[in-house]
Amino acid sequence: MLRLPVIAACLLITSPGGAASDAAKGRAIAVDHCKRCHVVGDLNKFGGIGSTPSFQLIAGMQDGMERFQTFYARRPHTNFVRLPNLPRFSKAPPYAIPFTVTEASIENLIAFVKTLKVRDVNQVPVVGGVGRKRQLGQ
Ligand code: HEC
Repeated sequence: MLRLPVIAACLLITSPGGAASDAAKGRAIAVDHCKRCHVVGDLNKFGGIGSTPSFQLIAGMQDGMERFQTFYARRPHTNFVRLPNLPRFSKAPPYAIPFTVTEASIENLIAFVKTLKVRDVNQVPVVGGVGRKRQLGQ
């Protein structure tokens, strides 16, 4: 899976330095493009798709911000997220409405994600227990 770090590095190199990120713009992107699948903070507490992790949960992971930084190259987004100067990740027909992100819009998204109240993965209820503390036989 060399592709992900290489592409992430390309983006870092081409990022415009000094541009302040804007959480309000990031929120608008989450409203337009992410919350149809993800629960995003208080925007849609009971929305999203059940199998899709909430933004609060991803943000609570140790490498959560890295996951947001590179989300376009992570499944399932490779199918429907486009970047202006990069070839399409997948030749498969999109199964969700495609949209385009730029380095600036990802920075804005991350600024917005940082305003969310994060969830501790260990405390998230799962069927039959709570997070990683669940043990077989309990
Ligand atoms: C069509 C549905 C859909 C849309 C739209 C969508 N996502 Fe996702 N996203 C998913 C699913 C499903 C997963 C879980 C993938 C998995 O666990 O394998 C996911 C996972 C993620 C992850 C974690 C990836 C990982 O590898 O851990 C991030 C970060 C993420 N999405 C960010 C976003 C952002 C930012 C947007 C909007 C700009 C967005 N997603 C739009 C369906 C979607």
